[in-house]
Amino acid sequence: MRISLILVASLSLVNGFVLQSSSLYPQTINGLSSKTRFAASTSEEEIALPTLDQLKSDSFIDQVGYASQYVPLLSQEDIDVADMIEAQLSHSDGIRGFFVSYLTGDSPSPADEEVIPAPLKAALESQKSSSDLISLTCMNVIMPTGMITMHTDEELSNNSKMTSKRGIIVAKALLAMNKESGNVEMLKQCQAILKVAKGEVDSEDEDVKYWIEFFSKWGYGDKEKENIAKAMEDLMQ
Ligand SMILES: *[C@@H]1O[C@H](CO)[C@@H](O)[C@H](O)[C@H]1NC(C)=O
Repeated sequence: MRISLILVASLSLVNGFVLQSSSLYPQTINGLSSKTRFAASTSEEEIALPTLDQLKSDSFIDQVGYASQYVPLLSQEDIDVADMIEAQLSHSDGIRGFFVSYLTGDSPSPADEEVIPAPLKAALESQKSSSDLISLTCMNVIMPTGMITMHTDEELSNNSKMTSKRGIIVAKALLAMNKESGNVEMLKQCQAILKVAKGEVDSEDEDVKYWIEFFSKWGYGDKEKENIAKAMEDLMQ
């Protein structure tokens, strides 16, 4: 768990840099032995997409590369990537890989729309009660929101702001789906995070305790907590 968090964090620190350049992963992209091949309508080039087996089992870094290939296709109605996202969202490395790519990719992106793309919605719906997905979705709001004021470089801070906004859109959608099916787990986590962001430093509640430790590990101060509290209130309203 700790190692996973650190990877997400370091990728968000350099966000917009790692993921802009899918050329950073040439071995992954050229080396794909894919059963699924089709031409993207925006380009003459044929794109080899990963198989469902690869999406369900390969490493975190591979997952980032896979998602960066098909995230740009998310808004194309003739290409259905819901199964691919669902396969990624079935395990923790896949969830982190998908969202690093989705949340930090270049603008304009489907991730900037207030309504999440239909394939992502379908995939979230099928995995909505996964505790890994719920927890990582909350972290995808907390971490970039915290980084907005921790970055001293304006461009990096702007990138974190964009990532945070996108993270809130996804979290809102997932929270709504869980509420609708009567699952209160995500709401409980968001409420616990809000308490900690509002200054709670001691608690008997296991969830609150968890997030107190999380906040302390990342060194969030008053400004960061204030922004995280706003983000939590925004996504729960
Ligand atoms: C950061 O965002 C602000 C507000 O949108 C913009 O005015 C500024 O030029 C951006 N800075 C950089 C370095 O991209």
